[in-house]
Amino acid sequence: MENNKNQTGVYKNINSYYIDNPDGLSVCIIEINRPEVKNALNTETMTEIMDVLEQVDNDDSTGCTVITGSREAFSAGADIKEMAEAGAIDIYLKDRFAVWDKLRKIKKPFIAAVSGYALGGGCELAMACDLIIASESAKFGQPEINLAVIPGAGGTQRLTRAVGKGKAMEMILTGKMFSGKEMFDAGLVSVLTREDEYMNEALKTAIEISNKPSIAVQLAKESILKSFELSLNEGIEFERKNFYLLFASEDKFEGMKAFIEKRKPVWKHK
Ligand code: CAA
Repeated sequence: MENNKNQTGVYKNINSYYIDNPDGLSVCIIEINRPEVKNALNTETMTEIMDVLEQVDNDDSTGCTVITGSREAFSAGADIKEMAEAGAIDIYLKDRFAVWDKLRKIKKPFIAAVSGYALGGGCELAMACDLIIASESAKFGQPEINLAVIPGAGGTQRLTRAVGKGKAMEMILTGKMFSGKEMFDAGLVSVLTREDEYMNEALKTAIEISNKPSIAVQLAKESILKSFELSLNEGIEFERKNFYLLFASEDKFEGMKAFIEKRKPVWKHK
């Protein structure tokens, strides 16, 4: 499977490449690579991540992305040195979160593969991903309170939706770190692995997703994300429109025909 690694481009703060998948669409890997600052996310790093995710969205031959860091740190959060001297007007005018808003527009799934620290903006980046696969010793936390600020990249909202009010309050008000195992038990982490298995597991899941018909995958993702914004009635109507829309895809006819003919479907991703 890993016989062919094609770089997506040359970046300063990340490594990223495509991995061939003979059974379906290829998978893209993004590795945050700022070891000297525990993979802290400066604006440039976020822009590079976004650039690759947009490339993947525009690339018909890729189905899914995995975002990871190193064994020691997924990411220790927003780059504090970049923000230390900024006043309110600087931070407002620079709008460092504009790139985070764009993450919500990405159509193809992206998975966080977490080991080590996932703190502050690092935890928020993992939560902005569609699912989190983490090693049991990963360390999740929202320590912004120790800097006299609060999570600013969606943490108060996404964490609360994922783990409920009590756990979110505990994490954000105390700034304490919680292990991958604790976050799995709390419902934030989808798949928990042993120390060295998180990347293999994330890759396995990304391949499984990339083997599915891509248009259905994208509309399923869109429908699930809408559930955070709409009432049940509106959400069900939204889902239904996407369900109907899929009857315009070639893969829908192939999928149902293949089932009836008792054979494996051949997806066109159209
Ligand atoms: N930003 C900038 N630099 C960082 C950083 C960050 N978020 N996290 C670590 N670093 C740097 C350190 O300053 C240090 O640099 P020097 O070698 O130049 O001193 C280097 O990385 C190594 O860090 P430590 O020496 O602190 O390593 P450690 O193993 O003792 O501790 C750690 C690791 C627990 C992750 C600790 O570095 C830490 O607490 N980091 C900050 C975590 C944090 O507060 N994150 C939230 C940021 S604010 C935010 O994210 C806002 C938002 O919502 C968008």
